[in-house]
Amino acid sequence: MDRISINQPIIGRDEKIAVMRVLERKILTSATELGGNEVRSLERSLKTYLGCKHVIAVNSGTSALYASLLVLGIGPGDEVAVPSFSFVATANAVLLTGAKPVFVDISENSYAMSADDLQSKITPNTAAIIPVHLYGHPAEMGAIRSVAVKNGLPVVEDAAQSVGAQYQGKHTGTLGDLGCFSFHASKLITSGEGGAIATNHDELSDKLRRIRTHGIARNGDPSIFGTNLRMGEVEAAILNIQLKRLTTFLDKRRRNAKELSHLLSEKRGVILPFSVKGGSSNWYLYTVSLDKARDRVLAKLNHMQVDARVYYRIPIHRSSFYRELGYRGESLTRTEHASKRVISLPIHPGVTLKQIRRIAGILLTVVQ
Ligand SMILES: Cc1ncc(COP(=O)(O)O)c(C=O)c1O
Repeated sequence: MDRISINQPIIGRDEKIAVMRVLERKILTSATELGGNEVRSLERSLKTYLGCKHVIAVNSGTSALYASLLVLGIGPGDEVAVPSFSFVATANAVLLTGAKPVFVDISENSYAMSADDLQSKITPNTAAIIPVHLYGHPAEMGAIRSVAVKNGLPVVEDAAQSVGAQYQGKHTGTLGDLGCFSFHASKLITSGEGGAIATNHDELSDKLRRIRTHGIARNGDPSIFGTNLRMGEVEAAILNIQLKRLTTFLDKRRRNAKELSHLLSEKRGVILPFSVKGGSSNWYLYTVSLDKARDRVLAKLNHMQVDARVYYRIPIHRSSFYRELGYRGESLTRTEHASKRVISLPIHPGVTLKQIRRIAGILLTVVQ
């Protein structure tokens, strides 16, 4: 029986040639404000793909979030609204700046932040909002942006999982003030580790270029606080090729998701992935909600060599570390409900339609 992994990088001959070229050139990184050749080329291509004014490549999605908060001047005494139903990096990036994450529940119509709950969590100390496009599905950005505008707050999109996803015809990551992408090995396009920030603000872009290299300006003066968040040339070279493959990757994921939805639709006890109005997913993860049988389905799929997984079984506010920090009395009903029911199924481009039918078949033997 072949094993079907939840995600799998697709690395071909072109990536290997691109890496060799960098190694032969022997310029592996650049500490200048503008970055090396491959980094600059990646930033240009990504900017064109996303349709935004600036892209700043960094060494991870976490760095992208951290740098975005730093450039907005966020620090001790500030609060930043984040969902608890996310990867812990979203909240940890806030802690890195010395600010306090304030957890917002998910909406009824998606696994992303609820605009209503967001509004109720705004205080005079709120300094920014970080919606997450969880599982690659756009958050309800229209409503979230309205709350941001009403309260005069910047929006930093956590688009770590959502490269290629769109909302009302625009790419996720270009809908707020700053958008943060991850190129970790689990993501649609990858260099093992990597990240990028998209923005339309000239001044923020200039500062971010300095923040990623110790705040050092073109004249050599460390003019603001920064640290080493630079992307290396090898990673950028791989991503330059990966980005060219993104459309094909998206098509295959879409095809697999469509087939799974067809096979699972109208089955009792199975709630298909949400899609918000005007949103189009990149199908990073195909996540269903199961009424009762979630853990039995997970065990059966894993036993049958299907690497289905639960993201996120422990919402951030319920994790040991955040409980230690004092997040104890928090009640995020929809987040906690979802964390007990969701399960993500493999649909990456390496999964065949035959394997999709096998996955659906196994799931249905348990729930029906
Ligand atoms: C929602 C979310 N935010 C942030 C990150 C952090 O990205 P990275 O692992 O590249 O630091 C990830 C992924 O890993 C993520 O899934």
